[in-house]
Amino acid sequence: MSGFTLDMLRALQSPAGLRLQGRVRDMAPTPATELRVNQTLRQEFDPALVAAALTLHELRARAAAKFTRADAMYFTRDGLEQASGERIARHCADRFAICGSLADLCCGIGGDLIALADHHELLAVDRDPVHLAMAVANTDVSGAADRVQPLAADVRDIPLDGIDGVFIDPARRAGAGRLRSGESEPPLEWAIGLAARVPAVGVKAAPGIDHASVPRGWGLELIADGTDLKEAMLWSPALATVSRQATVLAGDDIHTLRPLPGDPVPVVPPGRYLLDPNPAVTRAGLVEDLARSLDAAMIDDRIAFLTTGAPLKTPFARTLRVLASLPWHEKRLRAALRALDAGPLDIRRRGLAGDVEALTKRLRGQGDRRLTLAMTRAAGQPWALICES
Ligand SMILES: C[S@@+](CC[C@H](N)C(=O)[O-])C[C@H]1O[C@@H](n2cnc3c(N)ncnc32)[C@H](O)[C@@H]1O
Repeated sequence: MSGFTLDMLRALQSPAGLRLQGRVRDMAPTPATELRVNQTLRQEFDPALVAAALTLHELRARAAAKFTRADAMYFTRDGLEQASGERIARHCADRFAICGSLADLCCGIGGDLIALADHHELLAVDRDPVHLAMAVANTDVSGAADRVQPLAADVRDIPLDGIDGVFIDPARRAGAGRLRSGESEPPLEWAIGLAARVPAVGVKAAPGIDHASVPRGWGLELIADGTDLKEAMLWSPALATVSRQATVLAGDDIHTLRPLPGDPVPVVPPGRYLLDPNPAVTRAGLVEDLARSLDAAMIDDRIAFLTTGAPLKTPFARTLRVLASLPWHEKRLRAALRALDAGPLDIRRRGLAGDVEALTKRLRGQGDRRLTLAMTRAAGQPWALICES
């Protein structure tokens, strides 16, 4: 449960509650003024309602990073943390274009539901009645609430007759300490089993998902918002286009990398440029495919850094100019950094053990240049690459 009662939500949505929300918005409390705002508003409104309105105000401010209309939406702390951001939700919802009626199972506060309801009639199910009520209120912000049929139930207990497509985002958080890392509620296997009952299924999962748990014929999509790896989606055969793909959302652009089979990628000494692949690419296991698509080489057959002789612009990797390339030796490295006028360092560690935080402090120079140090292996040897963006 969410720790926010249905009665409290209804009270916040009542005329008095809406007036209170307006007052809170106008008074714009900050951590420094919240106590004073609270005391002022308690003279006019029920203290419990004031506390709820202040919490909602704080959550709406945080939610602005995920939702453009956050200021009119309703959240629990947990519901917001688990909610899909708008851009990813819209991207995933597009996959269901071939479906008619849909169900959003485990809809939470409606992050995905809002995007799905843009084009579909939808059954929305969550066993937490507060999350469900918030999901309906949140779809109302875009005028789509009348396309949503809410149902407070355990998703395992509901029939899915007449539904063409299911989107399911099981809870992954250790709510009340019940879930361990890698577990979900309902479990991933149950969600995958929905494909035996419904033609098209999309299952949201943790980005760290073991590829072995993706059934044959399904597609695995790793999705990053910029360089932040956010989600994994498992698409049932009716929705899958390829076995694996990496998607990078950049502003309004969507970039997709798919497997590109071919000859083994050559392994060469690091050249003038180093490519640091987006985490969606590395987690999708598509580093060699990226190398083939860019005509880049690897610096080691087990390391996810690529190298090229010329600068390349790609949404799937950060391109760094190599200023120095040397075997890993801390004393020599310090001298090389000093010679390059290094100041603060970003360390990217791949394939070498070491305490990055301690090294960042030890190697930080007094110079002006912010540099990147790739701490890695080249052709099996511990290697250092001092780079600039
Ligand atoms: C990860 S959140 C969903 C987030 C949502 N997709 C969004 O973007 O806002 C998971 C939700 O699953 C619900 N849940 C977990 N197990 C459930 C079950 N067996 N039946 C129904 N709902 C369940 C939780 O109450 C929670 O709201």
